[in-house]
Amino acid sequence: MKIEGEESRCYNLLMVESKLIFYLNGKKQEINTENIKDFSLLDFLRNHLRLTGSKKSCSEGDCGACTVVIGEYSPIEKKVVYKSITSCIYPVYKIHGKHIITIEGLEENGNLNEIQQAFIENHAIQCGFCTPGMIMSMLALLLNNPKPDEHQISKALSGNLCRCTGYQSIKNACVQVSGKVYKKPEFISNTENQLKEIEKDLHFKANFPNSPVKEYYIPSSLNSALKLLEKNSLTIFNGCSDIAVRINKAEASFEKVLDISGIKELKQIKLQSGKVKIGGNITFNEFLKFAERNEKLKAIKEFFEFIGSNQIRNIGTIAGNISNASPIADSVIFLLSADAELVLSSSKGKRKVKLTDFYKGYKQIDLNKNELIEWIEFEIPEGEISFLKTSKRKEVDIASVNSCVILKLKGRKIKDVAISFGGVFPYPIRIFKAEEYLKGKEISRKLIEKAAEICKSEVKPISDVRGSEDFRKKLVYNQILKHFLKLTPEVFYE
Ligand SMILES: Cc1cc2nc3c(=O)[nH]c(=O)nc-3n(C[C@H](O)[C@H](O)[C@H](O)COP(=O)(O)OP(=O)(O)OC[C@H]3O[C@@H](n4cnc5c(N)ncnc54)[C@H](O)[C@@H]3O)c2cc1C
Ligand code: FES
Ligand code: FES
Repeated sequence: MKIEGEESRCYNLLMVESKLIFYLNGKKQEINTENIKDFSLLDFLRNHLRLTGSKKSCSEGDCGACTVVIGEYSPIEKKVVYKSITSCIYPVYKIHGKHIITIEGLEENGNLNEIQQAFIENHAIQCGFCTPGMIMSMLALLLNNPKPDEHQISKALSGNLCRCTGYQSIKNACVQVSGKVYKKPEFISNTENQLKEIEKDLHFKANFPNSPVKEYYIPSSLNSALKLLEKNSLTIFNGCSDIAVRINKAEASFEKVLDISGIKELKQIKLQSGKVKIGGNITFNEFLKFAERNEKLKAIKEFFEFIGSNQIRNIGTIAGNISNASPIADSVIFLLSADAELVLSSSKGKRKVKLTDFYKGYKQIDLNKNELIEWIEFEIPEGEISFLKTSKRKEVDIASVNSCVILKLKGRKIKDVAISFGGVFPYPIRIFKAEEYLKGKEISRKLIEKAAEICKSEVKPISDVRGSEDFRKKLVYNQILKHFLKLTPEVFYE
């Protein structure tokens, strides 16, 4: 049976786009794709457009020197939203249909923007290398929230490093701007009506020999994506926060890519009868916004707002965190404890897999070539939740060991408990043996210490730059004690 519009959609999929259409600092741009010789937006800005205000340093999304602001229509919020992103790990083809705002766009009629002016007045610039990125992060915050508080300012700047350690003056400058209600510059508000969702399936081909990606598909519908996956050998790109780092380190290159970040069906998040359903391209920050609006999800929010930086949470997705299968994936620790399930889809149909069964070995997952994660589902836990992450820095750092405990007590009896750890096995794991030991027993310090011993004996950490095997085992023991100290302090003071 033919579906209406099918022929034209297939035709579209075969057509190679000849132009990348987007807004840059308020002006519409149409660039012939054959002239694009760069993979990242940062290189495209600096090499092709000669906009060198965005700086290049780590190329790994870590330092924030390359931060620019992206304006895009959000099907969730039904309006244009602004995001700070690290342009070094943002593939250039993603900018189609979006508004790219760089530091060069802020000057109006020869005058500095008020954020720039505040940086000068507060002596917040020393060498100036971090300054454009800092200002763009602050701009993104003000565009979404014209009067932010100090905590929001700190969170917005958490992904921007200042090598001259001028943090206090930088913060003072931002606090000064936040003192009055920020007025959106006209060149930004004027583009908002023009920006809307990309409704077309896009297909770009790289036109230079050394491109790390040869063909780039960005479908707008799930149906198109699944058909493409069925017929081609494609690598899924989502937020690209993991993949683009590998590309920049020359660890990976790809013939054909399926970018699923623009698929409307995956850009959904809902709460249905106590069950949270997260679509396959929902970012950390989209989840956080949703969690803020739902009283029952507030406890979960605190785990997610320390993942990466604001720039990373703006692009990194929960599905990508799961699928990347890093042993320390932060969101996975919670999702494992919450008994999350994945809905995997292909053009042949859907299947459900428990997250606890999804990992098969180091970086090995139960996902077929023709499948993608369409939904991540979990019931809001009834018990108390505790999350711990041991890392050198609080923000933008990888855990040595991370863990999540969900505990349900009835009086002093442990009715239910779930314990998950990361960084101590080839993939994130649940420690079922310790859970079984604890369930149904009266809680006591001795019991918790025995459970911590069991956890320690069940894990198999390796020694690397983030900690030796021995150190990680000690962390496992101590984190269990700390979880219960948080959840049931009275037991420790009897
Ligand atoms: C500076 C920096 C800081 C970071 N900090 C943290 C941190 O604190 N904690 C943490 O856990 N992680 C962190 N990360 C890692 C990263 O941000 C996350 O793993 C992120 O969730 C990956 O999502 P993505 O959409 O960017 O995935 P991508 O890079 O696009 O893809 C990652 C993998 O997932 C696959 N994939 C993506 N979506 C799907 C889908 N729907 N179906 C099937 N396969 C899919 C891709 O094929 C690929 O193999 C950090 C990364 C950077 C660069
Ligand atoms: S250059 Fe460091 S985050 Fe992009
Ligand atoms: S002023 Fe030198 S890096 Fe910040």
